Amino acid sequence: MQSKFASRITNASRSFTRTILDLTAQNTIISFAGGLPDASLFPRAAIEKHAKHLFETQDNRLFQYSNATGVEALKCEIAKKYHETQSTNILLTNGSQQGLDLVCKAFLDESDCIIVEDPSYLAALGLFHMYNVDIKAAPLTKDGVDTIVLESLFKTYAPKFFYTIPIFQNPTGYSYTLETRKEVVRLAQKYHVILLEDSPYEALRYDGTQTTSFADLLPQWTIALGTFSKTLAPDFRIGWIKAPQNVLSALTLCKESTDLQNSKFFQYICAMMMQSGELQVHTKTLIDCYRSKRDAMVQALKKYFNDSIEFIVPEGGMFIWINFKACEDSMKLFDSAIKKNVAFVPGSVFFADKRVTSYGRLNYTNSSLEQIDQGIKALYEAYKEFI
Ligand SMILES: Cc1ncc(COP(=O)(O)O)c(C=O)c1O
Repeated sequence: MQSKFASRITNASRSFTRTILDLTAQNTIISFAGGLPDASLFPRAAIEKHAKHLFETQDNRLFQYSNATGVEALKCEIAKKYHETQSTNILLTNGSQQGLDLVCKAFLDESDCIIVEDPSYLAALGLFHMYNVDIKAAPLTKDGVDTIVLESLFKTYAPKFFYTIPIFQNPTGYSYTLETRKEVVRLAQKYHVILLEDSPYEALRYDGTQTTSFADLLPQWTIALGTFSKTLAPDFRIGWIKAPQNVLSALTLCKESTDLQNSKFFQYICAMMMQSGELQVHTKTLIDCYRSKRDAMVQALKKYFNDSIEFIVPEGGMFIWINFKACEDSMKLFDSAIKKNVAFVPGSVFFADKRVTSYGRLNYTNSSLEQIDQGIKALYEAYKEFI
């Protein structure tokens, strides 16, 4: 049967993330590889309380089919995150990953051009490849995308959209400065390019002050994606798209043809946790815990590696992007690290051209403080071979 596969499947490379997740499912390995939240912090008691309340107060229509855009109470809560936004600007999706897919379904024809940051989120790159589009990459700096390159790509290729993760980016943890944002806004307006703003980590800010989103700076040209995967639980699979209403109608059509709707049960729980303020309080707990994990990783990196590596301390999110400058190909470091029972993601998988690189991504949210120290020590043991 495999000979009948569509080219989007035959051309797809096996997901490296899946390989790593399989490998690190072994308990003996300390994994800084996945982008997982700390499962011990999922707000189980609150979820249970609201689930019980639903059973006590709702009849069986709770489990009936309903409309594709999602539960009104939750859309209203999400709309409050943006300036001048109504619930009619919000479409609930099965995680922001589905949001990405729906945007591709609504906007991309084969051979269209899109722009991504270099490096970028691995599962988005994989998705874009499945739509057989021409992917051009603009380098990401610690202050955001290189706007000179971006402008020349906008001018030359007239792309449909620019896919950007402007806050605590995956994989780098970098955030755009306001100056970079404003320049991107100017370019999007000038060249009529959609900004596809993916912002799953913005609520996890440990230092610094909140910045204005593209969704608020340029609402008419921005499609914004959000998710509760990082603040509530990934298994709820609740994400959203915020877009102008005419765009939202097209996306809703796409959602209907994909899966009709999200489960209302989890949407109600999420809405109640927002309305009561529990989710906001829970997010503060996450921030305190993850900040100490980030600090522990930064401390361990300095302690063991000294100045043999380079990195920027992220102000939030889940990742530290390391330049293992003594090792030109971090894939080789990965092989050595696995032998020392520690895993990270080699940087090459995040680049559009999969180039050989000395960079690697480390996640700190899913390990204990002890594991962080132990794992970084083991990683240094592996790195010593290259110095
Ligand atoms: C940049 C980015 N976008 C989207 C997602 C998908 O998140 P979800 O589908 O769980 O909302 C992730 C998950 O790690 C991510 O890092």
